[in-house]
Amino acid sequence: NTGRFTFDPGFTSTASCESKITYIDGDAGILLYRGYPIDQLAEKSSFLEVAHLLLNGNLPNAAENDEFTKNITRHTMIHEQLAQFYRGFRRDAHPMAIMCGIVGAMAAFYHDSTDIHDPKQRMIASHRLIAKMPTLAAMAYKYSIGQPFLYPDNSLSFAGNFLRMTFGVPAEPYIIDPVVEDAMEKLLILQADHEQNASTSTVRLAGSSGANPFACISAGIACLWGPAHGGANEAALNMLREIGTPDRIPEFIARAKNKDDPFRLMGFGHRVYKNYDPRAKVMATVAKNVLDKLNIKDPIFDVARELERIALSDPYFIDKKLYPNVDFYSGVVMSAIGFPTSMFTVLFAISRTVGWIAQWTEMMEDPEQKIGRPRQLYTGPTQRDFVPLSNRP
Ligand code: SDX
Repeated sequence: NTGRFTFDPGFTSTASCESKITYIDGDAGILLYRGYPIDQLAEKSSFLEVAHLLLNGNLPNAAENDEFTKNITRHTMIHEQLAQFYRGFRRDAHPMAIMCGIVGAMAAFYHDSTDIHDPKQRMIASHRLIAKMPTLAAMAYKYSIGQPFLYPDNSLSFAGNFLRMTFGVPAEPYIIDPVVEDAMEKLLILQADHEQNASTSTVRLAGSSGANPFACISAGIACLWGPAHGGANEAALNMLREIGTPDRIPEFIARAKNKDDPFRLMGFGHRVYKNYDPRAKVMATVAKNVLDKLNIKDPIFDVARELERIALSDPYFIDKKLYPNVDFYSGVVMSAIGFPTSMFTVLFAISRTVGWIAQWTEMMEDPEQKIGRPRQLYTGPTQRDFVPLSNRP
């Protein structure tokens, strides 16, 4: 008797769930946000239009777009006392560590938007989180480099406001480069939602207990930080920089194929995509455009392209259906814009906050919703009697 109990692999409320928000066909490499193909949205819409789509189910008309934009921009500033929290962190703290802390701390401030049974309060919490993530993220960056925080400027676009708070200084006006602003918008759109990935499932599971929405998003940030998930963009760029030149690629390919080596090609492979991640295709084009238009000669893009070419012609990767994922080229874009690698996953979190909120709201609006309770397959010892310390061998 191995002690294995029969396990009913039945439907559990967190092992899988129904959702109307995002559709992925991993074998065909298809990603739809509320039915719209991701490449069309990235090419033709703004991030706030996509946020409205994910949250409300439809692309906004002109009046809805203005209203939604107003609802977001009126929440871009943060409570002045919340800004004090930054002074308690080490200057060299990883910005994702700061974001876990500061977003969780929002639960100690915004008490008028935490009644999860009140749709109006849920909406205010959602708008606050979407609006404040760029402000908090920019502050984490400014704090790390010892520069003063900049207040939001609501006359700017979502992406433009974030760029100015991050790279602007009080001493002079910040000129937003439209090439960079456009790349930023596309980066945010491409990473906004991805059905039941690890961090979204974390937010759903935390939210299913009725927890404070700000604390739930902080849990999502913590999960996203992992290098197997959103932290892969930072790890992928560090890997490309470590490879350095195309002639060193075979060494890393060999390591990735070596079962005894824990190294994996960062930015490659996916739990669901067994075809090319459609976001990676768009991200590669964004990367090429931004490097060309900004006239940046960064060898890592060539290394990325050559690594992709070699890997996609290698039987190991072909057999295991390993393709570049969203994180493979996103770092090239963020690096070209001027972000340090430590900020890459923070940008992913700014974008994915929209998806987390949309998925959390969908769950909270479900009248049948119950607390999540993943089941287990017990493989431990069968029942046995206690042995007093004096009798143990
Ligand atoms: C994201 O879920 C989402 O939707 C996530 C995400 C989102 O938008 O939320 O898409 C964002 O997290 C993208 C993934 C970012 N992570 C990375 O790029 C890290 C590197 N990739 C891997 O660690 C890996 O591919 C995972 C974690 C993404 C998936 O790992 P799995 O579940 O083990 O992948 P698998 O089962 O398909 O692996 C099949 C085989 C395994 O070998 P065998 O056990 O069959 O011998 O391929 C191997 C894996 O060891 N493999 C790799 C590899 N990824 C998988 N080998 C070398 N390099 C890799 N990158």
